[in-house]
Amino acid sequence: MEDREDTELELAMTRRDFIVGATATAVALSANAGHSGDASETGPIELPPLPYAENALDPYISSRTLSFHYGKHHRAYIDTTNQLIVGTELAGSPLEKIVATATGDAGRVPLFNAAAQAWNHGFYWKSMRPRGGGSPSGMLAARIDASFGSLKRFKELFTDAATTQFGSGWAWLVAGARELQIVKTSNADTPIAHGQKPLVTIDVWEHAYYLDYQNRRAEYVGAWLDHLVNWDFASENLVQA
Ligand code: FE2
Repeated sequence: MEDREDTELELAMTRRDFIVGATATAVALSANAGHSGDASETGPIELPPLPYAENALDPYISSRTLSFHYGKHHRAYIDTTNQLIVGTELAGSPLEKIVATATGDAGRVPLFNAAAQAWNHGFYWKSMRPRGGGSPSGMLAARIDASFGSLKRFKELFTDAATTQFGSGWAWLVAGARELQIVKTSNADTPIAHGQKPLVTIDVWEHAYYLDYQNRRAEYVGAWLDHLVNWDFASENLVQA
């Protein structure tokens, strides 16, 4: 029951602490945004399958963390989204449309929080893979060098963003019109609510790493960059940007 209470507490905190600066932001959803949200045109939003086994990211993220994070937290965001859209015009809509509709709507903050978190987590699972890390290749490698100077410098800046995000949130590599950028978002906020095209993301909510790293967030970020990040997924997203 403790898990359930933790999840509910986090949702409550997300709602309370929610800040979104997207009221004047044009919502631009990417053509491939369906990447992370399993969207049925007729039924409720479904929890997308994990792209690997729950123990596949050991030892960098344990099966215990993935079991809670995916099976409890992500599922709760999906369930809450479905509860909040039942009987509304958004019932049966793709997750991306739900996020877009709730963005900047003061009357739909709980829906934005749940739906954006549902989307963010689907994207996060795909941002990692077993035996990930290493170096990007091709156009992505060239764009990282052009935007940040080097992969080493990118890692320094990304680590800084991920470790200095105060409280709960996310760090992202996004494709801007001219160059790649590192952005961080608070709580449930997501680049797709700001017209940005995400390539990969790391979840820096404590629930993502606390069982494995306790308060050592920098250690988790380092392991993520060196052993987990899925550069192939980033390249796919860049091609479609
Ligand atoms: Fe999370």
